[in-house]
Amino acid sequence: MSDPILLEVRGLRTVFDTRAGQVCAVDGVDVTVQRGECLGIVGESGSGKSVTFASVMGLVRPPGRIEAGEIIFEGTDLRKLPPRQMQALRGRDIAMTMQDALTALNPALTIGLQLAEMLDAHADDLPRRGAARRQAIRERSVHMLDLVGIPSAGDRLGQYPHEFSGGMRQRIMIAIALASKPRLLIADEPTTALDVTIQAQVLELISNLRTELGMSVVLITHDLGVVAEHCDRVMVMYAGQVVEEGPTDSVIRAPGHPYTRGLLASIPRAALRGQPIRPIQGQVPDLIDLPPQCRFLDRCPHADKDCRHLIDMHPAGPGRRARCIRTELFQTERAKA
Ligand SMILES: Nc1ncnc2c1ncn2[C@@H]1O[C@H](COP(=O)(O)OP(=O)(O)OP(=O)(O)O)[C@@H](O)[C@H]1O
Ligand SMILES: [Mg+2]
Repeated sequence: MSDPILLEVRGLRTVFDTRAGQVCAVDGVDVTVQRGECLGIVGESGSGKSVTFASVMGLVRPPGRIEAGEIIFEGTDLRKLPPRQMQALRGRDIAMTMQDALTALNPALTIGLQLAEMLDAHADDLPRRGAARRQAIRERSVHMLDLVGIPSAGDRLGQYPHEFSGGMRQRIMIAIALASKPRLLIADEPTTALDVTIQAQVLELISNLRTELGMSVVLITHDLGVVAEHCDRVMVMYAGQVVEEGPTDSVIRAPGHPYTRGLLASIPRAALRGQPIRPIQGQVPDLIDLPPQCRFLDRCPHADKDCRHLIDMHPAGPGRRARCIRTELFQTERAKA
């Protein structure tokens, strides 16, 4: 039987050397992705979500660098792979859709060409060469665009990215990412630019393809509602660290970290249930030279002197971990309420 763990990241540390000092964007992050699961990643802007997965993809460029950690994908440490092998793996085995669809697509190439390049490099079930191969690539491209709901796909292969709407570009990017049938899809905010109906369609599409292709998905999003609906497990990030993780239902029912509680109270959906929206006060700390203490301390309504030291992740129930000394207290409070 194959290993149930597809991706395992241990102790990832990614830094950027800036004029103001060293920004530690990702500081000791562990991630596990099981085969076939959907893992949600949430956290405020700047918490390190994109940099964590850009690191997994080997896409961190100077002034950024991975300083420490292991990135094990199907038993291979990706950090030790030669650049050419990493490039081959990117796209074929792990694909990532970027947060900004317009800049991620090449503006100078038609989307047909961009899809064809992906298929030509990675699809291994097409005729080997010649007209048959070109024809198969074209058919597969139309099929992929159909799949993501681009109308008249055949006619639109010859168009450039700017000729599509923002929502269409997001979906085209998903089509390109899925063209090679990767085993892991990392979708970074795939629906932020979309209106609610299209958003639902894109997420539905990702869910369906996940079942169909047996692929694993990492879904990066600001929206805990999206996580609740689509993700088996959730990982909450704050200031470059994971602060809580576990099965989605259980985390949402009884969060074990005050930051997760804050995120839940600040989503508009809370208002739909007649509860007031309570934004988290304050700001994410500067990621340069952070003091050795809980990073949420300045914004936490429960903080006291005991929080002024480094706090590790600790077990917080079945399949759960949290980085707070009061997790048990929150959970018992919740159980009583
Ligand atoms: N090229 C860079 N140079 C310097 N700092 C960077 C660079 N890229 C990212 N960072 C810093 O790394 C930190 C994490 O950024 P990241 O993009 O991972 O956040 P995020 O959680 O994805 O946020 P968002 O929700 O806004 O997408 C931020 O403080 C950011 O300023
Ligand atoms: Mg991001």
